[in-house]
Amino acid sequence: MSRSLPAVRSPRGRALAAVTLVASLAACGGEAPAPAATAAGGSAVQFTEANWKPKTEADIPNDSMGASVRRGLYLLRFTPESLPQYATSGLRCTSCHQNDGLKLEAAPLTGSHARFPKYMPRTGTTITLADRVNYCFTRSLAGNVLPVDSREMTDLLAYMQFISQDVPTGYKLAGHDGLISMPDTLEGDVARGQALYTEKTCVACHGADGAGMGVLPPLWGARSYSIGASMSRIERAASFIYHNMPQTAPGSLTHQEAFDLAAFINSKPRPDSPSKELDWPLGGVPADVPYDTRSGHKAYRPPPLLPRATPERAVVPVPPRAASIRGTR
Ligand code: HEC
Ligand code: HEC
Repeated sequence: MSRSLPAVRSPRGRALAAVTLVASLAACGGEAPAPAATAAGGSAVQFTEANWKPKTEADIPNDSMGASVRRGLYLLRFTPESLPQYATSGLRCTSCHQNDGLKLEAAPLTGSHARFPKYMPRTGTTITLADRVNYCFTRSLAGNVLPVDSREMTDLLAYMQFISQDVPTGYKLAGHDGLISMPDTLEGDVARGQALYTEKTCVACHGADGAGMGVLPPLWGARSYSIGASMSRIERAASFIYHNMPQTAPGSLTHQEAFDLAAFINSKPRPDSPSKELDWPLGGVPADVPYDTRSGHKAYRPPPLLPRATPERAVVPVPPRAASIRGTR
C-alpha cells in the first residue's frame, strides 16, 4: 500500500483513518475471510438450482474458447446451411431446442453437459453427449452421423458446456429431462387435428402440405423428422405443441387439442429410421412408439414411411453394453 492517507489533524480523525486502513487491507484479502461470491470466481459460489441461470450469447468471451462456443451456437441455429452433408432435412437444432437450447419447455440443452454420459433406455446402454447429438442428427434431423472427432462436433459440445457452466457433474436439474411429460395420456383424433391445423393457424407457418417454408420448419414429408425421432411419438409431439405452439400464442391450446394436432401430424408420411427395430433392446418401450421392435413392441399408429437417401450413414453405432465386456459383470 503506497497510497498516502490524507493528512488528518484531530486525534479523532486520526483514529478514523486507522480504522479505514484496516478495513481496506482486509478487503484486499489480508486477514478477513474471503467472501464466497466474487465476481471473478464463479465456481467458488455454492450451486443452488434456484439461483442458477445459464449463460447466453452475450456472455460468450472474445477468446479462442469463445470462438468455439460461438461456432457451436451458430451450428445449432444454422444447421443445414453450415452442415449440408449431415443436416439434410428442413430442420435445424433450434427448430425444436428453441431459444438457442435455453427454453425449458422445449427439451433444454442447459445442463446437458453435466447429465452425460447417461443411460439411455432406447439404446439400452450408457452413451456420451456426442452420441446423443448424433441421435438428433440421424433421427430428429433425419440426417447423417457427424464424425465424433470433427471440429463441428467439438464446437457443439463446447456450446453445451458453456450453457451448462456451474451445474455440478451428475446433477439433475428439475424439468430438464427432455420434453415435459403430459400429465394425462389422451387419445388424439386425426380428423379433429386436421381441422385444428387450420383453425389454430398452424397452416399459415407450416403450410397446407406440412413442408414449412424458408426458416419455418416442416412438420411432415421428406424434409421432416424421421419415425425414429422422439417427436414421432404422439405424447412427445403433444408436449412440444402444447407448450410452444402456435408460435404466436403458446399456451393457448388445451391438452386434447395438442394430442389431436400431434395425432394428425404424426399420421402423415415421414422419413424412415434404419435399425429402429433394435431400439429398447431390454424392453420398456413406451406405448406410443410408432414402430415394431424386436423386444416385442407392436407399432402404435405407424405412419407411411419414405426411404432415406443414405441409410448406411443414418445409424449411430451402439457402444457395447458394460455387461458384455470380458472380465466385467
Ligand atoms: C425434431 C425436433 C428436434 C430437433 C430438430 C433436434 N432435437 Fe435434440 N432432442 C429433441 C427432443 C424431443 C429431445 C428430448 C427427448 C425426449 O424428450 O424424449 C432431444 C434431446 C437432445 C439432447 C439430450 C438433452 C439432454 O440433456 O438429455 C441433445 C444433446 C440434443 N437433443 C441435441 C440436438 C442437436 C445438437 C440438434 C441439432 C443437430 C438437435 N438436438 C435437433 C428434439 C429435437
Ligand atoms: C407464426 C408462425 C408459426 C405458427 C402459427 C405455428 N408455428 Fe410451429 N413453429 C414455428 C417456428 C418458427 C418453429 C421453429 C422453432 C422456433 O424457431 O421457435 C416451429 C416449430 C414447430 C414444431 C417443431 C419443429 C418441427 O418442424 O417439427 C412443431 C411440431 C410445430 N411447430 C407445430 C405447430 C403446430 C401444431 C402449430 C399450430 C397449433 C404451429 N406449429 C403454429 C412457427 C409457427
